[in-house]
Amino acid sequence: MKLSKFIFIAAFSVVAVWGIQSCQHEQMADPNGPICFERDILPIFNSKCAMSGCHDAGRSAEGYDLSNYKKIVSRGIVKGKPNSSEVYEVIVDNEMPPRGYTKLTADEKKLIYDWIADGAKNGINCAVKCDSASSGFASVIQPMMNKYCVGCHAYPNASAQVELSGYIGVKNAINQGLMKSLDHTGYYPMPKGGAKLSDCEIAQVRKWIQRGAPND
Ligand code: HEC
Repeated sequence: MKLSKFIFIAAFSVVAVWGIQSCQHEQMADPNGPICFERDILPIFNSKCAMSGCHDAGRSAEGYDLSNYKKIVSRGIVKGKPNSSEVYEVIVDNEMPPRGYTKLTADEKKLIYDWIADGAKNGINCAVKCDSASSGFASVIQPMMNKYCVGCHAYPNASAQVELSGYIGVKNAINQGLMKSLDHTGYYPMPKGGAKLSDCEIAQVRKWIQRGAPND
């Protein structure tokens, strides 16, 4: 190989490796950065689509298994084109989740739109956006239940009679094993089928209960 060619390839490799590393670094360092699949998207699919008997690995209704990244992007999602993506279309039309289940919020629909538009990438080990000092019910606890739990725990289809879409239900859940289910210590691990919540999020729930579980 000619020396000039070698230098060119070497320089190119250095720049390429540096580029990849700086991207990863950005994702880890900036908790308010771009959408991260594991942190922002997967919990929505897990709670609102992959309920048992729906689009979980066991049942895969209509051939859609929406329980993990590989399966989610394998069907009904056209990377970069949300409006050509069947999965996005049925969500935005409110066709899915079906009647009786909690629909996606406007924010969740937008997240899925933006994630697909950005190439439906697989982001893992994302920095969690969480302030362990805050544990207000309205500002922290209910939004957390909405994100991770209500797809399976809202009437009329509340799994195990645990209703997490409002204050009374969440307060009652304290006596239905709420803390044990989040801690993953042998009790039913929740969110079912999903990853354990971050230590910071679990600490927020614990703190709210220690403060007397107020409706604040
Ligand atoms: C994909 C559906 C699904 C999601 C998401 C989910 N759950 Fe559950 N949950 C269930 C099912 C089903 C049961 C019944 C036990 C079982 O089959 O594991 C259950 C049981 C429970 C129980 C135990 C009730 C009892 O009778 O002892 C608690 C507490 C609970 N869930 C809390 C939560 C919380 C908190 C979240 C969110 C962080 C959550 N769940 C997310 C489906 C889900």
